[in-house]
Amino acid sequence: MSEGAAKKEEKPRKFQAIRGTRDLLPPETALWNRVEQTADEVFSTFGFGEIRVPIFESTDLFARSIGAETDVVSKEMYTFGGFAEFSARVREGRVEGMLSEMSPEEMISLRPEATASVCRAYIEHNMQQLPQPVKLYYMGPMFRRERPQKGRYRQFYQIGAEVLGGSDAPAIDAEVIEMVMTFFDRLELQGAQLDINSIGDRNCRPKYVELLRAELLKVRDNPATAGRLGPDTLRRIETNPLRVLDSKLESEQAIIAKLPRIADHLCEECAAHYAAVKHQLEMRGVIYRENWRLVRGLDYYMRTTFEITAQGLGSQNAVCGGGRYDGLVELLGGPPTKGIGFAIGEDRLILSLQESGKAPTQQGRDVYIAWMGERAHATAIRAAKDLRKAGFSVELPPVEQKFGKALGQADKLGAKYALILGDNEVSEGLWTLKTLADGSQAKFTEPDLLEHLRKQKAGGL
Ligand code: HAM
Repeated sequence: MSEGAAKKEEKPRKFQAIRGTRDLLPPETALWNRVEQTADEVFSTFGFGEIRVPIFESTDLFARSIGAETDVVSKEMYTFGGFAEFSARVREGRVEGMLSEMSPEEMISLRPEATASVCRAYIEHNMQQLPQPVKLYYMGPMFRRERPQKGRYRQFYQIGAEVLGGSDAPAIDAEVIEMVMTFFDRLELQGAQLDINSIGDRNCRPKYVELLRAELLKVRDNPATAGRLGPDTLRRIETNPLRVLDSKLESEQAIIAKLPRIADHLCEECAAHYAAVKHQLEMRGVIYRENWRLVRGLDYYMRTTFEITAQGLGSQNAVCGGGRYDGLVELLGGPPTKGIGFAIGEDRLILSLQESGKAPTQQGRDVYIAWMGERAHATAIRAAKDLRKAGFSVELPPVEQKFGKALGQADKLGAKYALILGDNEVSEGLWTLKTLADGSQAKFTEPDLLEHLRKQKAGGL
């Protein structure tokens, strides 16, 4: 091989973010920050405090909470071998079939959602001893191995909240929903549409599910209709008939429309609870649409379920999903505990805000300091320090530039003002401030300049 060919092969590999993950860059990150800050503000006015839970947990925690048969757990989790067993087997050379034989307690998974973790934390920290209910919110990345597309990623971000303990008063369901809608309102999210449903409880849901299965079996076993059911539905008739109601498959829609509806099969308590949730929403002026097909994809739900869609998102238009999950804490070894919550898909929320023109365009600067000369440099450094301390964003070029070039650069960065510091300015103690929008110039002493900029900022600069 010639020397040239060898050099070619050494060309460094160019890495790219893994499929389904992405970098979030400025100026978009400013919008992410605004959204998260608004969540902090709105949720704390409802008495919620922030919880931060780990990015990975025991696989078993998710399997038990979300349900082993759900898509999330059975197909979409990023799961790793437990390291104690893993390293022991590697040391002893027993690696064949290792991954499939690992015991479930030894496996860990990247969190596909955070409700399970929050319930685990509630139990672990004896939060039932605190004044009830405990109101917690969280934000951060979640991981699901789904097919990536617009609004659907493998690492995505959720902002969620959970209310644990206390009663299952319908006012709690309504207030949680009111809180999300208030948050969306504050962000001026366009076309937010709230759908609600009740999926019953341990008393009434099993009977309804059996009825649904029986009806679906009739369709499957009737040669006239059998061909209209897709493979997912055929599987779900056995594993989870409720999820059939979620189907978007065109050929199934007419069949689904004729299936029995859960609202007609709720037990008395669930029916009363659902009616009261709707009444409570009306008292709060929250506009909703009843959607009997809203069943959600995670097993822990009972009674109230809800979803919010927004515009500009195409097929992945659910920006928020949630519901009641009384009994989940108990299922995880804790005391009997009521629970309700939601999670917002932050990526989708941001997309929708961007589509409706709510995104910041460029991270501008307040002041660009155009300096020339050694003495001016020292003054410029001091000026930058004082302006930044007063809360202005300042660009201080690291090397001397001709004034013309500096002003061009200030323009490109979207600066509002250029502060011109040359030998004359420094020796006179009068600094030149140029307003870039109209090209006007004025001279100020150092304290006057700060005062002037402060006034301009207070008046919206
Ligand atoms: P979820 O419906 O699975 O519920 O997810 C909530 C929201 O997260 C969805 O509505 C969607 O906006 C967003 N989301 C889900 N998967 C993806 C993805 N692959 N890419 C982008 N966004 C996604 C939960 O996770 C429950 N833990 C919510 C909850 C909290 N229920 C009670 N408490």
